[in-house]
Amino acid sequence: MWRLSYLEIWQSIFIQKIARMNDTRLSKAAHNLLIECARLKQSDTLLIVREKESLGWYKNDISDFILQCAEEMGIHTSLDEVGSPETNQDQNFYEKINRYSCVIFFARLGDQNRFEKKGFSTKRVMSYVRDCESLASVFGTFDYNLNILLKNAIDRLLENSNIIKIKCPLGTNLIGEIAPDNSETTEVSVLRFPLLVPKPIDAKPFSGKVVLNNYLTSTGSRFYKPNFIKINSEVTIHIENGRIADIQGRYDDVNNIQNHYAYVSQKFDIDMRAVHSWHPGIHPGAEDNKFYEYDPDKWSNTVFGQPKYLHFHTCGNYAPGEICWMIPNHTVLIDDKPLWKEGELMLDGFEHTKGLMEKHGTLKNVFSAI
Ligand SMILES: [Fe+2]
Repeated sequence: MWRLSYLEIWQSIFIQKIARMNDTRLSKAAHNLLIECARLKQSDTLLIVREKESLGWYKNDISDFILQCAEEMGIHTSLDEVGSPETNQDQNFYEKINRYSCVIFFARLGDQNRFEKKGFSTKRVMSYVRDCESLASVFGTFDYNLNILLKNAIDRLLENSNIIKIKCPLGTNLIGEIAPDNSETTEVSVLRFPLLVPKPIDAKPFSGKVVLNNYLTSTGSRFYKPNFIKINSEVTIHIENGRIADIQGRYDDVNNIQNHYAYVSQKFDIDMRAVHSWHPGIHPGAEDNKFYEYDPDKWSNTVFGQPKYLHFHTCGNYAPGEICWMIPNHTVLIDDKPLWKEGELMLDGFEHTKGLMEKHGTLKNVFSAI
């Protein structure tokens, strides 16, 4: 006879509890984060680390709400508040994290050095959802397990390809193939909520040119200021086997870019010519660019999960590097077939992803609603 496991029984009690909350979209998102992503059980202990609301990135409503949900699940939960990623945390902070079985970051701090595995014995979850409004939207409610299926399907399509071409309306034209050791490319060591991008593609086998006309921004990995520079006119960056070979454009732009690369590479003692890897966004609910004009770094670190953008990790021979290039409305051809076409994810064009859409109506619905 089929029996419910203890976890399933307990989860169904929790689902009933949060379903009684007024907003069903919020309760769905809480379930998505706490159960499907963080896979929390009643025996877990949870630390919620939130960034000060006054810094303008995260609102307290989301950490307050998730704290309440976790406590209603019977999980022992604590809250800690941190400042900007610029502020170094002391050893006590990291020791505290390791005393909990799970920590959820509503803070940019959770993204710092996110590709490094050292020093944590705790499950970490980085939330890119920053307030309850966004939590209740497709961004927070898109089924996490479907999110994983989508990411894995796109990873597989990219990894099984022979030739990949990247183009954009400004004239970006880059060609390469999957590196034999791409499967060893490091993934982030934290769980991400939601999953916004596929696994980074190693840029070493790629050559051609990338045309930029917006900003250089930070990848959010390490803190430095200024964390962006504006590009005034179109700049063409020539790439040979994953290295910056030449930069052409208006004198002031080229000069600014070279100075910025010199500054960041010297600050962290990293390879200034490295174009390490790239990936486009995959999430149907990622927010758009309301920060574009007045906070380019926030713009870049908010919109990167949209299928409309492809970003490169540069400056530093590791993912995610320290300087990001944002390419809007890109086309990515896999063996001459578009997986992204002018910034749109073409799930219909490939057998496996088309099958996923046919099997999961919500996947089809959220992508047709973009
Ligand atoms: Fe990235």
